[in-house]
Amino acid sequence: MYLLGYDLGSSSVKASLVNAVTGECVSSAFFPKKEMEIISVKAGWAEQNPEIWWKNLKLATQVVLEESGVNSKDIKAIGISYQMHGLVLVDENQQAIRNSIIWCDSRAVPYGEKAFNALGGEKCLSHTLNSPGNFTLSKMAWVKENEPENFAKAKYYMLPGDYLAMRMTGDARTTASGLSEGIAWDFKAEAPAKFLFDYFGFDTALIPEIVPTFGQQGNLKPEIAAELGLASGTPVTYRAGDQPNNALSLNVLNPGEIAATGGTSGVVYGVNSDSKYDPQSRVNSFAHVNHTQEATRVGVLLCINGTAILNTWIKNNVAPEGISYAEMNELAAGIPVGSEGVSIIPFGNGAERVLGNQEPNCSIHGVNFNRIGKAHLIRAAHEGIAFSFKYGMDIMNQMGIETKTIRAGHANLFLSPIFRQTLANITGATIELYNTDGSVGAARGAGIGAGIYKTPEEAFATLKKIQVVVPETCDIEATKVAYEKWLSKVIA
Ligand code: XUL
Repeated sequence: MYLLGYDLGSSSVKASLVNAVTGECVSSAFFPKKEMEIISVKAGWAEQNPEIWWKNLKLATQVVLEESGVNSKDIKAIGISYQMHGLVLVDENQQAIRNSIIWCDSRAVPYGEKAFNALGGEKCLSHTLNSPGNFTLSKMAWVKENEPENFAKAKYYMLPGDYLAMRMTGDARTTASGLSEGIAWDFKAEAPAKFLFDYFGFDTALIPEIVPTFGQQGNLKPEIAAELGLASGTPVTYRAGDQPNNALSLNVLNPGEIAATGGTSGVVYGVNSDSKYDPQSRVNSFAHVNHTQEATRVGVLLCINGTAILNTWIKNNVAPEGISYAEMNELAAGIPVGSEGVSIIPFGNGAERVLGNQEPNCSIHGVNFNRIGKAHLIRAAHEGIAFSFKYGMDIMNQMGIETKTIRAGHANLFLSPIFRQTLANITGATIELYNTDGSVGAARGAGIGAGIYKTPEEAFATLKKIQVVVPETCDIEATKVAYEKWLSKVIA
């Protein structure tokens, strides 16, 4: 008995096939091999073509089926994790009307600000726990004003994962957690935020049918099953945004538990049993995968847009030609804490919520041409990303969220010893690394949704802690000095 999990990221689509009984991941594949294109025709814009997501999902599915030799009939359920906050508009034939405006596209910032000011902070925050900000509804407001012909064709608005699920099953559906990522969920009413739809002039009929995060969400259509090499009728039983899904993957479901990721963007995510929010929406509160009307489970999410994407940029533009990420880590290891005075501010991937949606872009400080080389820049990038986490975690701490122990998958930037040690040293947190990732988590989520696992404990019984990073006393002082220097450039 197997479970198939997908993770639609910004740079690739990953599929993992998990043995439901042993918890072993029997095969994983991701496509494309080079980062997926983010189309940016104007500064601050970021789009992707949903057709490309589908193409890569298909390739990843083919490889896991071939590699594992698993009979598709033995795959009992499918789960989907997806890049959050993106907008996909589909017409009555379930065709995407335009490219998806993805999470790191900044064009909607003024639309969200205007709504927040017009409706009042108290109304927005007490009902949706956030400003509409640069999230999905604000993105749709941009389309309505700037591309009325596209908006007029829209039958449904969806998140990227809703689109993939619809492509598989033919059913246009979404979740409460999904609606909350678009700031379309009213936590007081436990229903779609009608007042925001009214304000923007959207019909609530644009919202697909709402289904639970875990449970029967549709079945693979015969022609799609044939296209993917899967069995017709296989149920889709779980979907969640990549950050709540990462938390699920790490069995972070209860108040006080903290998860983190270091993908294209980096996130620290804490679960709360109160509907707490940051009045400035620098960190955001969304419905967690297990949120219900009876038991509030809100994920407080710090997002840094410019995380592994900075590392990729350094690899492509600064580091020696052809170097691997592992070799970059080795090269940077020779440079002392503080990168000999170099600070990198990593905010080069669109409006940063933690800075009130400002877009300062990346900047590099303290370069002396006679002393500083590629290795320093790699180290300073990893340190700068860890410092941006510290900056946001201070806001989470002020909200009463303790970040003493952080769980993360042994993946992406958490593979960088410099990044994870700097993070532990500057925040005092213990970082636990586990043998999981988003696609494996989505497979386990599918197992919960299909009722194969009766409880999350059963689903996560095979999760293994593979490394623990604790602050290194001897480096703490030097790390603090480097952080203060970095901070002076951020708030200069
Ligand atoms: C989280 C966020 C990003 C995307 C990346 O709020 O915007 O981490 O989910 O896919």
